[in-house]
Amino acid sequence: MILVQISDTHIDEPGTLVYGHFDTARALAKTVEVINTMDPGPDLVLHTGDIASHGSVPRYEAFRDIADLLTAPLALMPGNHDDRDALRQVFGGTPWLPVTDDFLHYVIEEHEVRIICCDSVIAGAVPGEMCGERLAWLDQCLGQAPERPTIVALHHPPFYSGMTGSSAKGLRSGGEELDALLRRHSQVVRLIAGHVHRPISTAFGGTVAFSGPTTCYPFGLDTGPERLLNISHEPPAIAVHLWLPDASPAGPGLVSHTLPIGDWDEPITLLKAGVKVLAT
Ligand SMILES: [Fe+2]
Ligand SMILES: [Fe+2]
Repeated sequence: MILVQISDTHIDEPGTLVYGHFDTARALAKTVEVINTMDPGPDLVLHTGDIASHGSVPRYEAFRDIADLLTAPLALMPGNHDDRDALRQVFGGTPWLPVTDDFLHYVIEEHEVRIICCDSVIAGAVPGEMCGERLAWLDQCLGQAPERPTIVALHHPPFYSGMTGSSAKGLRSGGEELDALLRRHSQVVRLIAGHVHRPISTAFGGTVAFSGPTTCYPFGLDTGPERLLNISHEPPAIAVHLWLPDASPAGPGLVSHTLPIGDWDEPITLLKAGVKVLAT
């Protein structure tokens, strides 16, 4: 199974440059182009939130116009920049976006790895939360299939990334409870998130937690005394999660890659099917 994770596309009104610099629609179009060239293509592309710079119907329609070019199926999750009602208006009724629940959470069952998409958004606030109701829903979903390898996804990383500013906050509450909950469900092979616009991994809840990169403007890592939150000019990127039958001596496992998006020189092939084609 191949899962592509895209995140934090921050699509704005057509023609608008975010922060006067970033053509986020163009970056998404380039990302779609790269994903469509993958061979084999992904089983699923999952967006871990902040679809728009500020949620609105025209911005989601602009996103949809570009994302419709994806040849792989797509599922979306809300982030703090998104608006649940506008999302429901544009994407509601698809199997992955419930229109009836207060929260936009759902489970994707049809792949080798089960994916539980949580809604960690507090409307109008930057940080997220996993309240009692959402934790109970997640606990129940995990309890339904304890033997199936599972990815738990939410927009806000429940861990502290070491970065400053709003991106350091992650979850306002429920992080400790989420950690304890995941420890009770050993089938969770990964917790994936977005929000911090940077690929970061750490241990959490007895599993591996990973925040995916952004397709728009990455945040730089600053560990200096001024604790700057910088938009860096690193390339946008996606994450590619591979479920491999022989990931480790113990058997199957999830391996996560970060793939920068850009126009690079042609690759130089060293091996083909394990055979050397270019001498060093
Ligand atoms: Fe974001
Ligand atoms: Fe966010």
